[in-house]
Amino acid sequence: MSLAPFRFADLRQASDGRAELLAGLLAERAFIPPKYFYDELGSRLFAAICCLPEYALTRSEAGIFAAHGSDIARAAGPGRLIVDLGAGDCGKAAGLFPRLDPAGYVALDISADYLRGALERLKRRFPALPMAGAAVDFTRSLDLPDSLLAPAGAPRLWFFPGSSIGNFNPDEARAFLARIARACGATASGGALLIGVDLVKDKAALDAAYDDALGVTAAFNLNVLNVVNRLLDADFAVADWRHAAFFDAAASRIEMHLEARRVVDVRLGEQSRRFVAGERIHTEYSYKWTAAGFAALLNEAGFSKLKQWQDAGGGFAIFLAEP
Ligand code: AVJ
Repeated sequence: MSLAPFRFADLRQASDGRAELLAGLLAERAFIPPKYFYDELGSRLFAAICCLPEYALTRSEAGIFAAHGSDIARAAGPGRLIVDLGAGDCGKAAGLFPRLDPAGYVALDISADYLRGALERLKRRFPALPMAGAAVDFTRSLDLPDSLLAPAGAPRLWFFPGSSIGNFNPDEARAFLARIARACGATASGGALLIGVDLVKDKAALDAAYDDALGVTAAFNLNVLNVVNRLLDADFAVADWRHAAFFDAAASRIEMHLEARRVVDVRLGEQSRRFVAGERIHTEYSYKWTAAGFAALLNEAGFSKLKQWQDAGGGFAIFLAEP
C-alpha cells in the first residue's frame, strides 16, 4: 500500500536557544530550561522514565483513559482535529484515536527527528487519518501554518497530557492556558482542551518518582549537558555533575538540579564559567496541583466549562475544558 506522506514543518529558528541557554548558564543562579532535555537520547530516556516503577504519573493517566475513555470521548465529541502539544512518541494521542474518532492529527514537538520517526510509524497504523507534524517550541507561539491544520473546518481539541503543564510556574501556566483558551475561541468551529495534571501527593512518593533507583532520571537530567555541549560548543563533562531532585511541599513543586561534584571550569562557546563544588544548575520545576487548584487556574485562564476525571488513588486528574 502506498501512503500519502504526512505534512511536516520544521518551524524552529536556527538561532533558537543559543542566546537563551547562554543567558541561563551565565546567570548568577545558573539554569537550563527543561525543553532542552529532549534530544533523541533525552526523548528515549523520558520514555524509559514513564516505565519506571517509581514514576506512577504515566500509568495513572493511562488508567484514567482506560477506565473513563468512552466518557471522555463522548464529552469531547468525534470529528475533531487533535493538536498534540509535546507529542513525543505520539503514543498517548494514538491510544485515544479508536475512541475519539478524530478528523485529523497535528503533532507538535521540540524534537524534530524523534517526532518524524514517530509519525512515520503512526501513519502505518492509521493510514486514513490526515496527519501533520511540526518541530516547534510551542511555549513561544501557538500560531501554526494553515497548511498543517487540516481538515480546516474541524473543531480543534488541544491535547496537553502527561502533566507537562507542571513545567510552568502558576503565572506562566495561567498565561499559557489563556493563550489556548483564546485559540479555542478564535476558530468558528470552536475548540476544547484535554489536559492531564499530576496531583499533590506524599513527599516520599514524589521524591522517589524523580530520583529512581535505576538512575534513569539521573541519566535524563545529566544528558542535558550533552545537549548544551552541542548547541553552545561547550565542554561540560557529565562525570563532574550529580543529579539532585526533591519535592518542595511549600512551593508544591519538584526541583531538579545538576550539582557540581568539584570545582568545574567550563567553556561555553566564546564564554566560560567557573562553578564551585556543590554549586547547582537548575534544570526543571515540576509543579503538582490539587484538583481544585487546577480547576481554579483553568477558570482564571478563561475556561468556564470543565469536566474532570481522576484515577482511583487520586494521584492524577484529566480535565476537559472549554471557554
Ligand atoms: C514531561 C514535564 C511531565 O515533570 O514529570 C520526568 C518530566 N522530569 N522526570 C515531569 C520529568 C523528570 C516530566 N514532564
